[in-house]
Amino acid sequence: AGTGKFIVGGNWKCNGTAASVKDLVKALNAGKIDADVDVYVAPPFVFIPRVQAELNSEKYAIAAQNCWVSEGGAFTGEVSAEMLVDANIPWVILGHSERRALCGETSEFVGEKVKYALSKGLKVALCIGETLDQRESGKTMDVCYAQLKAVNDVITAADWDNVVIAYEPVWAIGTGKVATPDQAQDVHAGIRKWCASNISPEVASKIRIQYGGSVNASNCDELATKEDIDGFLVGGASLIGDAFVTICNSA
Ligand code: G3P
Repeated sequence: AGTGKFIVGGNWKCNGTAASVKDLVKALNAGKIDADVDVYVAPPFVFIPRVQAELNSEKYAIAAQNCWVSEGGAFTGEVSAEMLVDANIPWVILGHSERRALCGETSEFVGEKVKYALSKGLKVALCIGETLDQRESGKTMDVCYAQLKAVNDVITAADWDNVVIAYEPVWAIGTGKVATPDQAQDVHAGIRKWCASNISPEVASKIRIQYGGSVNASNCDELATKEDIDGFLVGGASLIGDAFVTICNSA
C-alpha cells in the first residue's frame, strides 16, 4: 500500500463559462474540507487567472490540463511549461486519454512532455489506462506498463517524487460506468509492483496512484477504502462544488 497523502484532482476539461466558473469557485470556497488531503483543480486555461484570484489557495492548488513538450516558440495554440511556472501554476495533467485518443499523443510524446515539465519544476499528474477492447482482451496491465515505461525511460527515479499517477480506464471515463473497487485495486496494486521493480521500492511506496473514471459523491467512499487507491482524478463531478468537496473528504 502507498504511504503518500491522499490526493484529489478536479479536471474541469473543456467546460464552463465565466458565470459557471464563478459559481463553482464560490461553492468550492464554501466547502469544508476536513480530511488530510492534497487537492488540485484544473480549469481551462482562459479561466485560470480568475480562479487563481478567487479560489482559496490554502485548500486548492491549480493545475493546467496540458502543456507543450519543449520550450515555447512558434507552436500555435500551445502553452509552455515555462509559462505555467511563470504564472504560478504548480501542477500539470499530462497523458490524459482524451489527448492520447483525440490529439494523437503517443506514449513517447507523453514521456517527453513529462520530462520537460519536470525539468521546469512542475508537478505532473500522469494519466494512464486501457480501453474497453484492451481490457476485454486481457491487455490492461500491459497497456499500463507500456505507458509507464515510456515515461520511466526518459526520467530519473528522483523525478518520480514530483509525479502522481492517475489510473483512468478509458471505458469508465464520462460513462457513469465506474470500475469496481476490486478492479481498480487490482490495477493499482499492479502499477505499484511495476514501480517497485522498474523504478525503486522507495518510489513504489511513496508514489500516489489516483483512480479516475466516473468517480462521484456516492461511490468515492468505497473506492477510497482500497489500500492502493491514494486519491482520485475527477471529471464530471468536479464541476459540482459540493460533490467535489465530498470526494475530497473521502480521503
Ligand atoms: O480526468 C478525469 C477523468 O477523465 C474522469 O472523468 O467525468 O469520468 O469523472 P469522469
